[in-house]
Amino acid sequence: MPMASILITGSAGFIGFHLVKKLLESNYQIIGIDNLNDYYDKTLKKARNKILCKSKKYIFYENDITDINSLDNIFKKHKIDIVCNLAAQAGIPYSIKNPLSYENANGKGFLNVLESCKKHHVKKLVYASSSSIYGGLPINKNGFREEQCKHRPYSVYGATKLFNEILAYTYHHLYPIKTVGLRFFSAYGPYGRPDMSYFKFAKAISEGTPISLYNYGRSERDFTYIDDIVQGICMAIKKDFSYEIFNIGTSKSITMLKLIRLLEKYLGKKAKVNLLPRNVFDMVKTKADITKARRLLGYKPAVSIDKGMMEFARWYKDQYPLHQ
Ligand SMILES: NC(=O)c1ccc[n+]([C@@H]2O[C@H](COP(=O)([O-])OP(=O)(O)OC[C@H]3O[C@@H](n4cnc5c(N)ncnc54)[C@H](O)[C@@H]3O)[C@@H](O)[C@H]2O)c1
Repeated sequence: MPMASILITGSAGFIGFHLVKKLLESNYQIIGIDNLNDYYDKTLKKARNKILCKSKKYIFYENDITDINSLDNIFKKHKIDIVCNLAAQAGIPYSIKNPLSYENANGKGFLNVLESCKKHHVKKLVYASSSSIYGGLPINKNGFREEQCKHRPYSVYGATKLFNEILAYTYHHLYPIKTVGLRFFSAYGPYGRPDMSYFKFAKAISEGTPISLYNYGRSERDFTYIDDIVQGICMAIKKDFSYEIFNIGTSKSITMLKLIRLLEKYLGKKAKVNLLPRNVFDMVKTKADITKARRLLGYKPAVSIDKGMMEFARWYKDQYPLHQ
């Protein structure tokens, strides 16, 4: 039987890199697309991609998903069974200062991916949504639930992810495309994103510079280790759904102050912290209710925050020895 082929956009990104690495262990041909933009350190994206390019089962295109013609050429060249769209302009604070940057990748780019799936008869699309779509919705005891979703995102980024979910529904309704949206909750781990809080904290602790900690450190996040995020994506790829949305988190959350204590422990240095009021775009707490993902996907997060942050800190110290 020929190998199934999966096209992954954003393959040189944090989640894309770990997902491709995992899928390459199985019998898949992977087509990766990434424009290697400079939103954060490009050398990190190139380093990830260099590791992936060692495999003969990985074909990489440095392309932009906003360019429909180049997407079309890739879809014509390869018989693609499944598309996994991870390419996006990520980042919540960045979306407040640069809202127009989100129009391209998260708007036009996602629409191009849907159009390409339609035109080239791709039957299944798995795509990245985000916990940030929940914004100001009330949180239940077990966390946010998928069906709770109204339109309350606190950031432009969150709003564009909600737009993706709506578009995916429309394409699923109009055409024979099965879509699964995954609302990731704060992914972290080795090769992580330097723009995210835990990474910035690690850098500041290592370099001895002060950390600006908003909401006086009381905000809580459901940090999800990258292996668990990848587990959720792989299950969504393997199982058959017509249109679904799943939370991919741990259903546990930690205050930012406790997170800093954990990083101090594993980096072996004390943090300098400036406590500040909450930003209006910051959610007070995120926590995923993962009942649905457990039941339908068989998703079972396995990595505790303690173990996960230890792994991240170990990688960080190895990667950035000069920051110590
Ligand atoms: N990391 C998280 O905690 C988190 C949480 C919720 C949702 N998400 C979503 O998951 C996906 C992956 O996130 P990540 O953390 O790996 O982010 P990332 O920024 O590391 O990865 C995204 C990749 O997409 C590429 N890209 C951006 N615009 C592109 C375009 N127009 N054409 C081609 N490539 C493009 C970037 O160069 C980058 O390598 C994103 O859609 C993000 O919004 C991530």
